[in-house]
Amino acid sequence: MADNTDPDTALIENYQGFFREDLLKNKVAIITGGATGIGFTIAEVFMRHQCDTVIASRKIDKLKKAAKILEDATGRRCLTVVMDVRKPQEVVHMVEQALSHFGKIDILVNNAAGNFLAPANSLSFNAFKTVVDIDTLGTFNATKAVYDKYMKDHGGVILNISATLQYKGTIFQTHAASAKAAIDAMTRSLAVEWGGQGIRINCLAPGPIENTEGIRKLAGLALTDTKGRYIPLGRMGTREEIGECALFLASGASSFITGTVIVVDGGSWMTSENSMVQAEQVLEQMSKSRL
Ligand code: COA
Ligand code: NAP
Repeated sequence: MADNTDPDTALIENYQGFFREDLLKNKVAIITGGATGIGFTIAEVFMRHQCDTVIASRKIDKLKKAAKILEDATGRRCLTVVMDVRKPQEVVHMVEQALSHFGKIDILVNNAAGNFLAPANSLSFNAFKTVVDIDTLGTFNATKAVYDKYMKDHGGVILNISATLQYKGTIFQTHAASAKAAIDAMTRSLAVEWGGQGIRINCLAPGPIENTEGIRKLAGLALTDTKGRYIPLGRMGTREEIGECALFLASGASSFITGTVIVVDGGSWMTSENSMVQAEQVLEQMSKSRL
């Protein structure tokens, strides 16, 4: 029976899908941060298209719970590996476990990330470093480990999860915007260098996605337009919409696409509010609770 009470591991209700059910038949995908939120839903959508998955993050309880829900709902296999994307040895070990369990890795989704709302003048050296370490170095670590251990000889697909914060000077997001901008750049350079080895690497940039930790961290504050008043499509996105786009980018349906960032945000980065007038209100709220 599906457990849809915990938002982190909520399955898609009445899933229909847009693509052929066997689109990822017998493929194997690693999804970092796949036990919760957007990563969990990407794993769900992949598994509903006949893919086996490896989900990897820091907390064993979350991983085990997510894997059981995913396996029960889809009938596919989901291996869990505890690791911190900031630690290269743990990342390499995770890739080795994936290979010894499934024998191959067709897809890597670099989804793990960390974020919080903080004015730049209150960021400690370590606060900035922590977010860059998780997002940027974590993405490189997993990418390099999968390349060295498997994809350099067999090809494959890498999908980075970025954001749209870096397109404008988004307030209170200096750390995350810097980290995600580096991921966009990494995507393009690796696409050029590794295309000849049969590796496609793209980026998916979500806008505000409902029912996620990312939005919980920023919502409640004026910064995030949860009602969609300033979003051209008039609402936040859903995890399913990110999952479907990830499926497209991971599958043969996108076989001639590499080095691209696909923005899935209802047009919001172009129109969302982002001013220091608004920031006054946010600062007042932040002084009451540290998010
Ligand atoms: N504002 C300012 N600084 C903050 C902060 C906040 N809200 N939260 C953490 N920091 C600082 C800490 O003070 C610390 O710096 P210091 O050593 O100079 O004091 C630094 O960031 C690291 O914090 P720590 O809690 O030790 O890091 P961690 O590795 O345990 O956790 C986080 C990383 C902070 C990103 C944590 O929020 C996390 O694990 N997030 C994962 C989930 C997530 O963010 N999801 C949304 C994805 S978009
Ligand atoms: P989330 O549920 O918090 O997902 C982040 C995942 O990363 C968690 O499962 C977390 O698990 C894992 N993680 C964090 N630090 C890690 C580390 N050091 N090593 C290994 N795993 C780590 O948040 P989300 O909102 O779904 O975000 C998913 C992705 O979408 C992120 O890349 C985020 O930047 C991007 N995004 C989200 C939104 C949005 O609206 N939500 C918008 C733009 C971009 P543990 O803590 O257990 O390790």
